Amino acid sequence: MDNAVLSLDNQEYELPVTRGSEGEVGIDIRKLRASTGAVTFDPGYGNTGSCESAITFIDGEAGILRYRGYPIEDLARHSSFVEVCFLLIYGKLPTEVELDVMKHNLTHHSLLHEDMKKFFEGYPPSAHPMSVLSAMVSSLAAYYPDTEDKADLDLNIIRLIAKLKTIAAFSYKKSIGHPYMYPRNELSYAEDFLQMMFAVPAEEYVVPTLLAETLDMLLILHADHEQNCSTSTVRMVGSSGANLFAAISAGIGALSGPLHGKANQEVILMLERILADDGNYGKYIEKAKDRDDPFRLMGFGHRVYKNFDPRARVIKKTADRVLTELGIRDPLLDIAKHLESAALEDEYFIDRKLYPNVDFYSGILYRAMGIPTDMFTVMFAMGRMPGWIAQWVEMRNDPSNRIHRPRQIYTGPTALEYAAVEER
Ligand code: CMC
Repeated sequence: MDNAVLSLDNQEYELPVTRGSEGEVGIDIRKLRASTGAVTFDPGYGNTGSCESAITFIDGEAGILRYRGYPIEDLARHSSFVEVCFLLIYGKLPTEVELDVMKHNLTHHSLLHEDMKKFFEGYPPSAHPMSVLSAMVSSLAAYYPDTEDKADLDLNIIRLIAKLKTIAAFSYKKSIGHPYMYPRNELSYAEDFLQMMFAVPAEEYVVPTLLAETLDMLLILHADHEQNCSTSTVRMVGSSGANLFAAISAGIGALSGPLHGKANQEVILMLERILADDGNYGKYIEKAKDRDDPFRLMGFGHRVYKNFDPRARVIKKTADRVLTELGIRDPLLDIAKHLESAALEDEYFIDRKLYPNVDFYSGILYRAMGIPTDMFTVMFAMGRMPGWIAQWVEMRNDPSNRIHRPRQIYTGPTALEYAAVEER
């Protein structure tokens, strides 16, 4: 199959077909408008391939997710977040030396410019940490300007990942009125974040290994997910030539929506609501099915996964193990499990292929780790950072990249005659 044939207004047009390395088929419509005058119509882009990418592969029907060819289950079990950052951004697993250099760089660039600390003072304590994160990342551009130089760009990439955990932890400290804790170079990425979140100057804090390992794994599971809403936003903004920080800041904004990254926060709010309602999860299953009720089962459903979300499987297993090891009995976990079993046996959810997604159990784990609910989406953003960066770099290096500029089907009034204000 080399070409597809389009029949339009009694005329046939041949459209070239492009194939991915996993056999994905794309009808290349780049010349469609020029040759036919028509555009495609695909609100929500569910059928539109916006780029070629060699970073992440998902088979939603089979529940497969791979970064640069490596299955997510293997990376979650054997790898570290820093190694996955290297893999996604530079395209291969690092050698021992490369990994050491990456770790060294990520620890030695984690301090914020002291002036940036003052920015936090301007936010009200009630500010959502995602708004603060997005604004602070955008502000990094004022300190580390845009560059075409490869070495400088690499350094900006390192700075962004390294400083993100510091910004995230500082925004939490600000919200609770505690002094900021500075990064410590002897700690791993996840340990350092936990230290900056939970240590206080008044006493020594030892990062619990179980929490650091769990966080590291959660960051790996979130590290990339091909052309989702926030990643497409990063590419969209970056396609204009906007700098790395501006593009990532926009991605953080996209992630903050409840249908995307903020679903992890919404899941907990939903489970708390059900718990307060005598644990009556059946009522909420019925509400989710009711077309006249805007309620949706948060953490359920996915545009791409139509069988299971492999990340959700890993997280569910880990949640069981970690809560047992920590000796935590969380009634929200019980409600989540009841809700999942009930939904998976319900025709509505079966017909629509709605399964728990990555956000369904991640919140339970974050809670067990002591992370406050409104920081959950920030955790997602920390994990997604290498993916966003890898996608931005890939787009910048792609010679076929053009500024992203979709068309539309106009449905407004046709030409009207202008009437002066006194005549209306
Ligand atoms: N609860 C109840 N019904 C649902 C749900 C849900 N969570 N999700 C989808 N549906 C129904 C929807 O009403 C529609 O039914 P019908 O065909 O009768 O109109 C059908 O399933 C298809 O849904 P859709 O909204 O057309 O699917 P979509 O691909 O546009 O949306 C989604 C995907 C993830 C936004 C959606 O499933 C949803 O809103 N889920 C809850 C929010 C959530 O958990 N988001 C996190 C996604 S995973 C992490 C990430 O990528 O950020």
